[in-house]
Amino acid sequence: MTSNLTGTAALVTGASSGIGAATARRLAEHGASVALVARRKERLVDLADEIEKAGGSALVVEADITEQAQAEAAVQQAVERFGRLDTLVNNAGLMLLGPVVGADTDDWERMLAVNVNGLLYTTRIALPHLLQAAEEGPRRVADIVNISSIAGRVAWNGYGVYSLTKFGVNGFT
Ligand SMILES: NC(=O)c1ccc[n+]([C@@H]2O[C@H](COP(=O)([O-])OP(=O)(O)OC[C@H]3O[C@@H](n4cnc5c(N)ncnc54)[C@H](OP(=O)(O)O)[C@@H]3O)[C@@H](O)[C@H]2O)c1
Repeated sequence: MTSNLTGTAALVTGASSGIGAATARRLAEHGASVALVARRKERLVDLADEIEKAGGSALVVEADITEQAQAEAAVQQAVERFGRLDTLVNNAGLMLLGPVVGADTDDWERMLAVNVNGLLYTTRIALPHLLQAAEEGPRRVADIVNISSIAGRVAWNGYGVYSLTKFGVNGFT
């Protein structure tokens, strides 16, 4: 296994399942220390155990990224533990589909809160650390990976507000 991320640190939001968990696993396999961020702590603990048993390094951070203070504290915890931040994966997301007519606006608020606000909060606080990591090496580069969707490029019936958030993610990226 190549270890091209050895000496770097990454943070993955939504690491408790799906794409986020798979991404965190893969980053660790490539040598990165990984901060695992989500609300379901037990799932993060299990993943951290798995990563550490395989010889990697993981930090569990229970946080709701729709709360700005928690999103910011998550990034700070990762930097305190690993001393740097080279990679931010903004993966946490929510897809609630349905027609706009008669929609439950709570669904809209929840999607906007996670898919847009959460991503903005983590990015803003992480950027100075990412820029510093890029200055200091070892790769001389840092990365932000924003997980969008095909629904961020193509608008489909029933995807209205989810699509809005993912078009927004693309625009911001
Ligand atoms: N699966 C697909 O086919 C697909 C296609 C295109 C794009 N995507 C995008 O890919 C990303 C991941 O999707 P997935 O399918 O892997 O979804 P998933 O399995 O439902 O995972 C979503 C993750 O987001 C976390 N999350 C949700 N709300 C959160 C909050 N307030 N604070 C912190 N974490 C939160 C969840 O953790 P907790 O519940 O533990 O907090 C979970 O770990 C999303 O952005 C999604 O829009 C997925």
